[in-house]
Amino acid sequence: MVKYIINGAKPLQGTVCISGAKNAAVGILPATLLVKGTCRIENVPDISDVRLLLQILDEMGAVIRRLSPNTIEIDCSHVRDSVAPIELVRRIRASYYLIGAQLGRFGHAKVALPGGCNFGARPIDQHIKGFEAIGAMVELTGGYVVATAPADGLQGARVNLDVVSVGATMNIMIGAVLAHGTTIIENAAKEPHIVDLANFLNAMGAKISGAGTDLIRVRGVRALHGGSYAIIPDQIEAGTYMAAVAAVGGDVLVQNVIPKHMDCISAKLREMGVKITEYDEAIRVTRTARLRRANVKTMPYPGFPTDMQPQIAVCMSLARGTSIVTESIYDTRFRYCAELNRMGAAIQVDTKVAVIDGVEQLHGCDVKAFDLRAGAAMVIAGLAAQGTTVIEDVHFIERGYENMIEKLTAIGADIRRVEIPETAAVRTAG
Ligand code: EPZ
Repeated sequence: MVKYIINGAKPLQGTVCISGAKNAAVGILPATLLVKGTCRIENVPDISDVRLLLQILDEMGAVIRRLSPNTIEIDCSHVRDSVAPIELVRRIRASYYLIGAQLGRFGHAKVALPGGCNFGARPIDQHIKGFEAIGAMVELTGGYVVATAPADGLQGARVNLDVVSVGATMNIMIGAVLAHGTTIIENAAKEPHIVDLANFLNAMGAKISGAGTDLIRVRGVRALHGGSYAIIPDQIEAGTYMAAVAAVGGDVLVQNVIPKHMDCISAKLREMGVKITEYDEAIRVTRTARLRRANVKTMPYPGFPTDMQPQIAVCMSLARGTSIVTESIYDTRFRYCAELNRMGAAIQVDTKVAVIDGVEQLHGCDVKAFDLRAGAAMVIAGLAAQGTTVIEDVHFIERGYENMIEKLTAIGADIRRVEIPETAAVRTAG
């Protein structure tokens, strides 16, 4: 078992460099299945979700060369039309991108239903709606999604998403790239990682326009070719470190960001009294006086991201006054609040709304990471709290944050990662 141990209440000072975007990488890597050639991808975050996807592609016959921790060459020319190993596929949600990629490349896909963070129902009906629109027959059988293109191939079509879905938008884009004719995705999601996937595919010869708007046009091409691409910085990782400075206090330069992607997060932090200074590829975050309360409602991009909801809630738990957080994307993304209340926060949750009465101080204690972003929130709370915080289940955190311990230590945090042998953990429990 791996835990993080944090001795809190130390202001953060210095520079933190943001890694490549997880939610772009987990779409781009499966999309390399569409390419008969070598894709050289830079700024790939070295996180467990990426390592898992690379393992899946390797099992499917991709030739993968890791030129550095963050630069990878992938050649899927000789990948077989095979079923990705279910024990790997079920461990992350992003494995659903294999459906669009296999369907587009081979005209057939068989992929286990995805796993991923558990905060309520996470259906894939909109993905299936898109694949059926371009002619595929899709069945859910035995825990697998089985999709089959018609004999004469996938045909471009218009599909209007009932729900603004990042995954469905990206998956349909991937599935439509090699279809005959043009596919139009209406009510598409507009997140930066969707634009990044479209830019990657276009660099490999696709013809996609409109990514970043709610209408994306995918003109089918006969084949994609190899090429090079660098993934954008991770908007949510950057926001997480910005929220950490806001909660703990200090003065940190967050480097390798696209400030435009941070607009909603920067605006909310400014509203709470944080000083935000924007440069071309960096944002300086300074917080000295106590935070002011604020309200936030999570929305699809460019609104306030749901993946920043737990992190901003920690800031609000320490602000002067009462804040209200409304979660509009997921059913139950407030499980972490019970852990924060054990640290002295005063949060009341009613389904999709959390009412947060700011307190002067949080106190360290033993807590759990319930999912990736809830885990990040526990780290921020531990950094801000008086005393020692021990976080369990940190594997969730390491799915999406590269070198978090090193990055936080470099800006003055007292945090360390300890591995406890399972037997010792059992003995302790006994
Ligand atoms: C992506 O998940 C991200 N994951 C999530 O980030 C993020 O929270 C989410 O987008 C929203 O931004 C990855 O990119 C791997 P959605 P995804 O489809 O694609 C409903 C993180 O912390 N919906 O945009 O699964 C769904 O239930 C993770 O990095 C349908 O109803 O999210 C949800 O309520 C957590 N039918 C809403 O839409 C569908 O077919 C948005 O989901 C698909 C989604």
